[in-house]
Amino acid sequence: MRKFRAAVVGCGVAGSLVDAKGPTPLPQSHAGMYASDPRFELVAACDSDVGRLRAFETTWKPRHVCRDIAEMFERTGPRELDVVSISTPTDTHAELLNAVLESSVSVVVLEKPVARSVREADPLRGQLSNKRTKVLVNYQRRWSTNFIRLVQHVRESRLGEIVRAQINYPIGIVHSGSHGIDLLRWMFGPPQWVQALNALESGVSDGVVDCALGWAGGLRAYLQGFARRPWNIFELDLLGTAGRVRVTNGGRDMEFYAVDVDRDYPHLRGFVPVEAPFPNEWQSAYLNLADHVVELLERPERQPRCSFSDGYEALRVAEAAVVSAHENSRRIDL
Ligand SMILES: NC(=O)c1ccc[n+]([C@@H]2O[C@H](COP(=O)([O-])OP(=O)(O)OC[C@H]3O[C@@H](n4cnc5c(N)ncnc54)[C@H](O)[C@@H]3O)[C@@H](O)[C@H]2O)c1
Repeated sequence: MRKFRAAVVGCGVAGSLVDAKGPTPLPQSHAGMYASDPRFELVAACDSDVGRLRAFETTWKPRHVCRDIAEMFERTGPRELDVVSISTPTDTHAELLNAVLESSVSVVVLEKPVARSVREADPLRGQLSNKRTKVLVNYQRRWSTNFIRLVQHVRESRLGEIVRAQINYPIGIVHSGSHGIDLLRWMFGPPQWVQALNALESGVSDGVVDCALGWAGGLRAYLQGFARRPWNIFELDLLGTAGRVRVTNGGRDMEFYAVDVDRDYPHLRGFVPVEAPFPNEWQSAYLNLADHVVELLERPERQPRCSFSDGYEALRVAEAAVVSAHENSRRIDL
């Protein structure tokens, strides 16, 4: 059977280096995903940094290594590639996606956020509506078995009605907070409004902002940002009328609770720890992502589970939170 031909643009941490240190039990990078899956052939790589390119070549041994994307398409030929990963810094995403859309590549795996700003992403959205290319945005939790099961758990009302969702995120609302926004959109649908709860922290390029999101029906979520000082953090806490889930340690740990009578104060009800309803499989994201890429390549009617439009919406909400922070915590309808 013919293998799907893949290329990676951007040979840094997300593109390769997480896996390049040595074999990890499961792939955690774009190159690791293609190289470890027999359904793909990792044909080409491209990076503007020669050192990164050489390191990539030594680890993954693609047929072509190139300094820029134009050279990559020249060397591989316009029809050779089936799927291209864009894992370069965010300020290059729009330009590189534009270049890939000029080719006959069927699927693009685009790192988040989709662009620096909604303004930069707008023309791409228009362009994509006329193209058959499927662009899948790598908000990684979408492919994690743990999160897939958690979303199902919530949708089946196993926590009862969700009263509050809380997320702690690092670095900036666009860079990492948008992971949380995408997760909440996936679980609960599009929020109706966003409101910053404080002014922007100074001295950071992206906005580190605490904000509230609201949905029709009254659900609220709070996102709290930390500038990766003194630690890196990504956590989720879902509090429902029948239970609670705390996801900590970057997604590695999940604690489940049921609502029950408080042992010491029997007139009150509280959260008591219970056994997890499913096994912990936090490292599976790139295995599931590979399956989804194959599904998109083999089935023309299938659409990305996290589309460009989903990525665009996460960016739009993040940007609105920053606007709210600049405008005295004005509530912004989305
Ligand atoms: N999905 C996730 O959980 C996750 C995790 C980490 C990073 N990311 C995203 O991945 C992207 C890359 O992050 P990173 O940490 O790997 O960065 P990085 O700096 O480690 O790697 C980026 C690489 O792209 C190369 N590059 C820059 N401009 C280029 C161009 N025009 N053409 C070709 N190569 C170019 C750089 O030389 C570098 O080697 C970012 O958008 C980031 O938000 C996502």
